[in-house]
Amino acid sequence: MHLLLINGPNLNLLGQRERDIYGSATLDSIERDLQIKAKDENVSLECFQSNSEGAIVDCIHNAINKIDGILINAGAYTHTSIAIRDALLSVHIPYVELHLSNTYAREEFRHNSFISDKAIGLVCGFGETSYELAMRGLLNVLRKVKK
Ligand code: DQA
Repeated sequence: MHLLLINGPNLNLLGQRERDIYGSATLDSIERDLQIKAKDENVSLECFQSNSEGAIVDCIHNAINKIDGILINAGAYTHTSIAIRDALLSVHIPYVELHLSNTYAREEFRHNSFISDKAIGLVCGFGETSYELAMRGLLNVLRKVKK
């Protein structure tokens, strides 16, 4: 089983950026931890981060015929990007949306997500643990489908 983790804009600055909201873990350490957990589950995990919308769209397209499930923290593009929504729907790969913060407890403009309604599920508000919870949820569903 092959999973893909996509992180959107500004998430490369985790660890220095608004630590009161996003915590002190760097993206590097989050990715490394998740790779270890993926290995324990016998799955491969590819990690991708970009600050640009088009690069994220390309990454989603490149997942066709390679990736069984996607974990995505689209950052601010969650609230603005129809292009990322369309890309996710175009490739027919199941995905889980995740966020470090509870976006519904924050500014109103973060309450809209262009990707939630088509996601398998949504995990938000657990800091770096959101990544692990999202992967566990995604694997659970993918394994049920494969049986
Ligand atoms: C975020 C929440 C978004 O609203 C914000 O723009 C981010 C990070 C999160 O993980 O909590 O960049 O996706």
